[in-house]
Amino acid sequence: VVSVLDELVVPVVAAPMAGGISTPELVAAVSEAGGLGFLAAGYLTPDAVRDQLHATRALTGKPFGVNIFVPGDTAVDESAVDRYAARLTAEAHRYGVYLGDAIADDDGWAAKLDLVLAERVPVVSFTFGCPDADVLARLRENGSTVVVTVTSAAEARLAAAAGADVLCAQGQEAGGHRGTFDNPPAESSVAAELDPDADSAPRNDMGVLPLLREVTSAVSLPVVAAGGLGSGADVAAVLVAGAAAAQLGTLFLGCPEAGTKPAHRAALTEAAGTAVTRAFTGRPARGLVNRFLRQHSAVAPAAYPHVHHLTKSIRAAGDPEAMSLWAGQGHHFVRELPAADLVRQLAADARSALAAATRRML
Ligand SMILES: Cc1cc2nc3c(=O)[nH]c(=O)nc-3n(C[C@H](O)[C@H](O)[C@H](O)COP(=O)(O)O)c2cc1C
Repeated sequence: VVSVLDELVVPVVAAPMAGGISTPELVAAVSEAGGLGFLAAGYLTPDAVRDQLHATRALTGKPFGVNIFVPGDTAVDESAVDRYAARLTAEAHRYGVYLGDAIADDDGWAAKLDLVLAERVPVVSFTFGCPDADVLARLRENGSTVVVTVTSAAEARLAAAAGADVLCAQGQEAGGHRGTFDNPPAESSVAAELDPDADSAPRNDMGVLPLLREVTSAVSLPVVAAGGLGSGADVAAVLVAGAAAAQLGTLFLGCPEAGTKPAHRAALTEAAGTAVTRAFTGRPARGLVNRFLRQHSAVAPAAYPHVHHLTKSIRAAGDPEAMSLWAGQGHHFVRELPAADLVRQLAADARSALAAATRRML
């Protein structure tokens, strides 16, 4: 199968980034420059996704992707959610807002699937799980290239068996939510990250290079590598290590076309570092360390999307110390650069890094 990936002039994917970041302008600029842009359907209404799709198509005739959140098991420890809500009352008071209702929804799953089928989107990617084989088959028969995000060899095998065309291997350096299929309790709080013995279960926290090795050994599908990639040399590194393309999120946060909030942009260069936390949404995600993350990570329950809804008004209050500032470990290298220039610079730098490495090995 010749996928859209093989035909990219530049094997660089701009990661889908929900929360208003992946605008049609960003997606179109990346695809026009020879990479692959991605719309993020997460948190949007199906109508809003349709509008963004049409807006993107008005800007480019090149292929692009749409990313959808796969709904998971929403059975949670209700009393843990209640305890967390009680703890967050002080935060709500602090910002003069009410906590949201800790509800579970499926983020418009069926309507978003119908939409990408009806619109024949060239590339459809999934995170937070692997859809059933019949869903993937319908998309493929409809002409879409189907990508499933994985964070372990076990998830790679499941996605391959379900009929994915391509896998996105997301290393633990990555900004934003971990794409892990499930959301088991006792892991990935900051406390657990600091204590490697906290949980003996599989942690789904491999770095991008060992993960890429595991995934390419486990399955024979093309693999897009993601996580902490901050330069053309990093793009070259994952291509040499067997990736079909490199997917970068954080580096595109600095593009003027991205919908990144000013406070988020400023924090990218100023913050000391990142950590994986459930404090904001109830699912592990990597963000810049701020007060909210420090104060609540150790006790936040594994309850997604309940905690996402609970904290929404606090995050929207506008204090960078209480916003979810998703970012990967490469955040210090974010620059303000138009997306097309960034794609071209990554391509040029990857070429010279490859040439330098080749000279070194001769
Ligand atoms: C702000 C932000 C939002 C993100 N939103 C999504 C999303 O909606 N869907 C998704 O599959 N991945 C999302 N990701 C993860 C990316 O797909 C990708 O794995 C990650 O950006 C790669 O690591 P990097 O940020 O270090 O480049 C997001 C990442 C960031 C930084």
